[in-house]
Amino acid sequence: MSDSDRRSPNIEDRGEAKYFHGRKGILADLRERLKWTEKDPRKGTTFLIQAAPGAGKSALLYKCAELAEGQGWETLKINTKALWDTDALCQILDGGWKHLLDEIAVNAGFDKWIQIQGAAKYKLPGHTPQSIIERGKDPLLLLLDEAQTLGRGMDPTQARYETVGVFLDSLHNGGMGRPVMLAVAGLSATKRAFKDMGVFRFKDNCYVELGPLKPEAEGEVIKDWLKKDGRAKGDPTPWMDAIMQKTHGWPQHVAAYAQAAAIHLRATGREMTPEKLKTALKVGEMKRTKFYESRAEGIVRKERQCIARAMANVEADGTIDKDIVITTLREVCSEEKAEAVFSLALSNGVFDLQGDSYVIPIPSMRRWFVANYFIE
Ligand SMILES: Nc1ncnc2c1ncn2[C@@H]1O[C@H](COP(=O)(O)OP(=O)(O)OP(=O)(O)O)[C@@H](O)[C@H]1O
Ligand SMILES: [Mg+2]
Repeated sequence: MSDSDRRSPNIEDRGEAKYFHGRKGILADLRERLKWTEKDPRKGTTFLIQAAPGAGKSALLYKCAELAEGQGWETLKINTKALWDTDALCQILDGGWKHLLDEIAVNAGFDKWIQIQGAAKYKLPGHTPQSIIERGKDPLLLLLDEAQTLGRGMDPTQARYETVGVFLDSLHNGGMGRPVMLAVAGLSATKRAFKDMGVFRFKDNCYVELGPLKPEAEGEVIKDWLKKDGRAKGDPTPWMDAIMQKTHGWPQHVAAYAQAAAIHLRATGREMTPEKLKTALKVGEMKRTKFYESRAEGIVRKERQCIARAMANVEADGTIDKDIVITTLREVCSEEKAEAVFSLALSNGVFDLQGDSYVIPIPSMRRWFVANYFIE
């Protein structure tokens, strides 16, 4: 590959974390809830994990699946479309569901499921995603990531809105004929999106707002990257301390810096010298910046400058007034566009909804915006 090739500089951020630590309390709560749910096929639960970008939602959801499988549960990763569209659901059902799918196919007038599968669209008469999911017997954990988009653009008068509402209600409150749980992760608009669909009043410990990793867990993650991935020689404590000064428990930052350090160690020999640490920290910072850059994608320079100006005057408690952001954006674009830019920034996690206020969830992202785009 030549130097001019453009490869994604971001580290893998879907699914499993290479060196997962912490979140023990949350996983213990999930374990309890799985046990509670599996006792009675009429039970259901929504386990909702909500957090700012890079807080570790997807990695935790992966661990939830692993835990459930260890307890004998079936797991299935779904997407929001699969909540109302049988096509979307059937496309993600795997070999384990073949028997059931064949049976559905026969009822729909085909010999076998495989005949339906070739068709571009195979609406199943008389079926909804819920009726398909209900057919199995074993306890089932459905996993839904990026759930903040639920309901977006969906018209409450559409039939699909009702289909999703009924399905979510059954998952949340039970009555599906098999123990089923829905584990959901998303940015902070997620809880509100579920409320709009009629899902609220979460059972004890089934609603989680993820914060940073505790220092012990953060240290363990960094140590694993240095020792296992970077094969570092000697005591990693000074490097761990230096990296933790930059990352403050924020998983995405931890991963960016620790992976950069590990790669640098692998490339330059295993000794941890102060010079190498300096370089590793610089590369880590670059990776972190790329992450912010990806969050600002789709927002053009003059709009970023407006956002930076609004951010420069953020309240002492970290809240930011949407009207101020819109007013500054209005200087460079139409009202409609200003609203669209705000929505994009919100769905990318530049802003976050906390109660009734907007906040800037990652202080270092705010500093990045202000340092790079603030113009008086
Ligand atoms: N508990 C953890 N231990 C170790 N690494 C973690 C942990 N949680 C997350 N990570 C790592 O931190 C990075 C960010 O995590 P993840 O992608 O799960 O965050 P996210 O909240 O899903 O982000 P996004 O909002 O971008 O979807 C990933 O590289 C992931 O592997
Ligand atoms: Mg994620």
